[in-house]
Amino acid sequence: MSVEVVCRASPSLALIKYWGKTGGGEARRRSRRGDNRPATPSLAVTLGGVSTETRVREAERDEVYLDGVLQDAERFAVFFERLRRHLGTGLHFRAESHNDFPSAAGLASSSSGFAALAAACSRLAGRELPAGELSDLARTGSASAARSLFGGFVLLPAGARRARALWGPEFWPELRILVAVVTRAAKPISSRQAMEATRTGSPYYRQWLKSSAALLPRALEALERRDLEQLGEAVLLSYSRMHAAMLSASPPILYWLPLTVAVIDACRRLRQEGIGAWETIDAGPQVKVLCLERDLERIRRRLGGLDSSLELLPCYPGPAPRCEVRER
Ligand code: DP6
Repeated sequence: MSVEVVCRASPSLALIKYWGKTGGGEARRRSRRGDNRPATPSLAVTLGGVSTETRVREAERDEVYLDGVLQDAERFAVFFERLRRHLGTGLHFRAESHNDFPSAAGLASSSSGFAALAAACSRLAGRELPAGELSDLARTGSASAARSLFGGFVLLPAGARRARALWGPEFWPELRILVAVVTRAAKPISSRQAMEATRTGSPYYRQWLKSSAALLPRALEALERRDLEQLGEAVLLSYSRMHAAMLSASPPILYWLPLTVAVIDACRRLRQEGIGAWETIDAGPQVKVLCLERDLERIRRRLGGLDSSLELLPCYPGPAPRCEVRER
């Protein structure tokens, strides 16, 4: 009888964004070696309501399938090597992963994907590592994945190897995040490539780093007080400046589609009407709207009226990854 480990993890939505890696000209080589450390601090909420499920079992060689499609082994090679070294095992892994939300479209699927993979492989190797150690391993695959090892509200400081939990999901149960899926198509350029192009090609990159460091304490203070308006203002600045920096790269990077802009505009109008709808956008065209539970339906109706193709997924502060060991 063989054993299979099934882990479910939720994506990490950054309120204050990670965009760029430490290490100057070395950054690219270092991210290939797995030293994938962020140049900006990020503050995130783990999204309940959407998740990645990853099943792992022992295999002859490492293989990762996402929604049935075999993934490029190179993307995972450094991660698996480091994982084996850390676990002191010679095991190889076959992983099958499914997202219940669009993959590679700017919904942070790599965050939940690598978090679930790190947790599942460690369990298969017979180890129950503390979340901090798993966070460090998951960062090797994707820095945002370091945050997905924790539920609730999570901080990944600039230059850090692991994230840490600030508050659990119960800290702000009324908070909602409405994910507006503008398109299910994969994004034209990966976040990894786009952040490197921003670092090397944007004259504003240094300013972006400075402004992120300055936004973090503002956002933390607002979050501590559960003050949506103050937090929302910092969230708006973080994503706008991140996209402004991308847009100033050479060649410019623009992920937004017409419907992305329509959602931004609808949120602005809602705020003018006194409804707290604070949007944020990652490396893709999708928009995530922070709001309170009491305003969710109204915001949903307004956004739903923009275009019949717009998919709306209501999310909330979600849990840490959960794993189960099964006999096959
Ligand atoms: C815009 O974590 O996908 O979502 O570390 O190169 O794998 P790598 O990048 P990734 O980038 C996430 C960027 C972001 C912002 C964020 O999640 O903080």
